[in-house]
Amino acid sequence: MCGIIAAITKRNITNILINGMKKLEYRGYDSSGLAIIDNQNNIIRIRCVGKVNALIKKINSMKISGNIGVAHTRWATHGKVSTENTHPHISSNIIIVHNGIIENFSILRVFLKKQGYQFYSDTDTEVIAHLLHWEQNKKKYCLKEVIQNSIKKLYGNYSMVVMDKNNPSKLIAIRSGSPLVIGLGIEENFIASDQIALLHVTKRFIYLEEGDIAIIKNNKIDIFNKYNIKINRKEIISTIKYKSIKKGKYHYYMEKEIYEQPYSIQNTLKNRLKDNETIHFDELDLEKDNLLINTEHIHIVACGTSYNAAMVAKYWFESLANIPCDVEIASEFSSRKLVVRKNSLFITLSQSGETADTLSALRYSKNLNYLGNLTICNMEGSSLVKESDCYILTKAGLEIGVASTKSFTTQLTVLLMLIAKIITLKKINDNTSKAIIKTIQNLPQKIQEILKQTQDIKNIAQNLSNKNNILFLGRGDQYPIAIEGALKLKEISYIHAEAYASGELKHGPLALIDENMPVIMIAPKNSLLLKNQQNIKEISARGGIVYILSDQKFDYEDNINIIKLPHIEELIAPICYVVPLQLLAYYIALIKGKNIDQPRNLAKSVTVS
Ligand code: F6R
Repeated sequence: MCGIIAAITKRNITNILINGMKKLEYRGYDSSGLAIIDNQNNIIRIRCVGKVNALIKKINSMKISGNIGVAHTRWATHGKVSTENTHPHISSNIIIVHNGIIENFSILRVFLKKQGYQFYSDTDTEVIAHLLHWEQNKKKYCLKEVIQNSIKKLYGNYSMVVMDKNNPSKLIAIRSGSPLVIGLGIEENFIASDQIALLHVTKRFIYLEEGDIAIIKNNKIDIFNKYNIKINRKEIISTIKYKSIKKGKYHYYMEKEIYEQPYSIQNTLKNRLKDNETIHFDELDLEKDNLLINTEHIHIVACGTSYNAAMVAKYWFESLANIPCDVEIASEFSSRKLVVRKNSLFITLSQSGETADTLSALRYSKNLNYLGNLTICNMEGSSLVKESDCYILTKAGLEIGVASTKSFTTQLTVLLMLIAKIITLKKINDNTSKAIIKTIQNLPQKIQEILKQTQDIKNIAQNLSNKNNILFLGRGDQYPIAIEGALKLKEISYIHAEAYASGELKHGPLALIDENMPVIMIAPKNSLLLKNQQNIKEISARGGIVYILSDQKFDYEDNINIIKLPHIEELIAPICYVVPLQLLAYYIALIKGKNIDQPRNLAKSVTVS
């Protein structure tokens, strides 16, 4: 979603802001802008539709300099993509950048127009700028009080940074639904939506909590909580290596992240398999063991790729641990009346830990009769981690490509470990848990083997890159993998792709089959293979062209192509079979010349609901 970066220093901040905006590009955006108060106390605002590079070009021709400023990458919500709608927005002396949505902005807009304010954009942000200005001019409040009075009138989830030309010695930041992190320097301080935007200037950070207002000067930071009490928030040292933000020898972050999967999974497993007998998560204490022991039902809520991982876990929880499991899309969960099962554990699954729909679902679940809640998340310090009863980190490392890859496989690895842990705690079946622990250790090696044989996938990508539609099929715990494969392809190549459970084919989608509708079939050697073979025959009998992912031999036929995979144990097969599908989507998008890391209209962390 939108990215915020702001700085107050004793040196020229232009490059600090620009570098930060470049780092925020991965979040997805359609325009960007910055405003600096220069040394003659002029507001210099530069805005541009398109890439940050276009903005940089504009800035380079202008030579601007100043010690305080705000910058923003915009992902349009209110108003089309245009320079007028690009942040920062200004109301006389007030300058603002904002992330999130103000739900009651149209009522406020009407009110402010009546007060004589002129609007140059369609955004909710300009409404905030004018509201602050109006409030400031009503009485001579200080800027903090102006903001506190104004935000009482705002409904929605947002974060923002405000700067005042009449008092250019401070920035004020407000967190109310969207994350903000303060970066600490020497005689300089910063604020951004994500620490990645600031790693080129500091490793020391303070995360704001919900409702916090921070007054940021170059030598002082004061934070007030939602009750207006001055408070100390913990300083953390970032563990993210600046090197991990670089693409290295890869063309795209997504390619890097696909190839990193053996190492990410190794990291996920590290220090968690005790004597090959039990699973240990440092993050869970004994009290949480009791929560798991008492769990009789699991309810997992997530979005997108994380939802697909949860769907695989449903098969696993029921077949391996005999625990009923329901999975739901987060945006649906919070908007319906539901019946909570007895002793049900509420689990959220998320890479970013900031997905607004998943966060709302967690908050909604707290008013319902769940036994407790757990989040499985990649980002320590994220809102989901902070607001959940307990958490397990996936430890995938930083994921920058918008399309999730290593987050998915590490989520599945954690879920499988969690199942083994629950089986042991509940004394369900020791052999199953030992089998999981033994097999899961083969994952890095198996994925490495798959990553070595990419030529087949590149060839198929060539065949498929000019298609308009592709069907993905899978059965059992490979059905969600088919869905994930289709999602990856849609996201980065813009080819329409749909996934079905193979058994559903004859209930409708078979009507689509002809030589123009290629089918990707996931058919590993398992108890469902015969049924899958039957489906393959049904497709090829109708002139359909099938691409089969399998570790099994198939009879040669003209319109059947095999992507032969190494033998993979059934338990971990879903985690391995997604890898060739990630590669297929990647190579197709590469052939089509798409912007793989920043697909159109998408954002990495979806912080609006
Ligand atoms: C797809 C993708 C999205 C995310 C979804 C949830 O490649 O990345 O579908 O999976 O927006 O995000 P998180 O996992 O951060 O909650």
